[in-house]
Amino acid sequence: CMEKMWAGRFQKALDKQADDFNSSIHFDSRMYKQDITGSMAHASMLAEKGIISKEDSAKIVDCLAEILDDINSGKLLFDLDAEDIHMFVESELTKRIGDTGKRLHTARSRNDQVAVDIRMYLRDESAEIVGLIKKLLSVICKKAEEYKTAIMPGYTHLQRAQPITFAHHILAYGMMFTRDISRIEDAVKRMNYSPLGSCALAGTTYDTDRYMTAKQLGFDGITLNSIDGVSDRDFCVELLSAYATVMMHLSRFSEEIVMWSSWEFKFIELDDGYTTGSSIMPQKKNPDMAELVRGKTGRVYGDLMSMLTVLKGIPLAYNKDMQEDKESLFDAVKMCLGVFTPMLDTMTVLTDNMYKAAQKGFINATDLADFLVKKGMPFRTAYKNVGMIVAECIEKGLVLETLPLEEYKKYSNLFDDGLFKEISLETCVSKRISAGGTGGNSADIQIEYIKKFI
Ligand code: ARG
Repeated sequence: CMEKMWAGRFQKALDKQADDFNSSIHFDSRMYKQDITGSMAHASMLAEKGIISKEDSAKIVDCLAEILDDINSGKLLFDLDAEDIHMFVESELTKRIGDTGKRLHTARSRNDQVAVDIRMYLRDESAEIVGLIKKLLSVICKKAEEYKTAIMPGYTHLQRAQPITFAHHILAYGMMFTRDISRIEDAVKRMNYSPLGSCALAGTTYDTDRYMTAKQLGFDGITLNSIDGVSDRDFCVELLSAYATVMMHLSRFSEEIVMWSSWEFKFIELDDGYTTGSSIMPQKKNPDMAELVRGKTGRVYGDLMSMLTVLKGIPLAYNKDMQEDKESLFDAVKMCLGVFTPMLDTMTVLTDNMYKAAQKGFINATDLADFLVKKGMPFRTAYKNVGMIVAECIEKGLVLETLPLEEYKKYSNLFDDGLFKEISLETCVSKRISAGGTGGNSADIQIEYIKKFI
């Protein structure tokens, strides 16, 4: 093993297997940007407060900027023998500027360093996720505009229930995703307080200025208890819960896409770019991307559960268990959104098939009952009559549109010719003008809401 920064107290080196087990560089290296910017702010503050010299601070900051450039350009590779990203950056700094580099860690601990890094990382990551959800929302709006009048069956219990528009159906997901964004933003707001300067757990004897680093790093303030600052990861739980909810919505949507692309439904056709074939069955075109999004949802749920479980038994303050926070947080959400949105964007909507499916299954039975109600019959009586009419149709192999008026009259003389217009799918949809319903200008209102939200 390479010599550790903390080697002074030890008689012999860490066992190789223990060293690998302990190391987190292979996953926390992705926080290098946040680690470096955090260190820059810390070094500047140390100089401002006269804890290190201005020259040393300038040297540290310049060298950190170089290290950042070198990592970005690929000139500097992560040393997988380093214990974690914090040790890696610090040892690289010392390699480059010698003893001056060794002054950086004054009035700081890796405990507050990792706590500030992860908050900044999650802030950036969440902004990216929100951006990706917004892209998805614009595709949903685009499709809703395009299919504002396309009629499809709406389902309950996966049984055809009432006719709706395709726009109304997918705008339901739109509404869910707007709330997902606000959940994430809400969690970020609560997370955005800097723990930097909490040090190991108890604060420091140096005259530091935590507000200065917090401001420079874009935080809204500082955590007011140093133990809390280094110990808690409740923001990880909150964000993971918000991510899990995003995945739950993506997964439901995926499930529908899988169903809709089956021969049994054939409501949509996915683009070749987002489907795969079978190694044995030449006819197959499989919706793998949607299935994988649905599948990866399980992982993200697991991430939330493992985060909660890691935290539940650890005493204050920092414990190494907390290193386990990261892999959970670096999981599948971004890649799922990355593939889901273009898959949705490029799919073909087979409006004729949707319409045909809406014609079968007595989807307009509620409207037939309402026809009688509007003529004065109590709803429960109308409901019962229509139930019997449906049963008769099924027996005769007819649908409500093809049952002759004379037959209707046998159930009630309130029936007249007008009923056929009343039960046409177009009427059923366009007359549902209650606020938030499938008819009227509801889709426009929803689209406008989502666009404004974006
Ligand atoms: N790699 C560690 C983590 O992710 C950094 C903090 C280490 N602190 C310590 N006291 N060992 O949690």
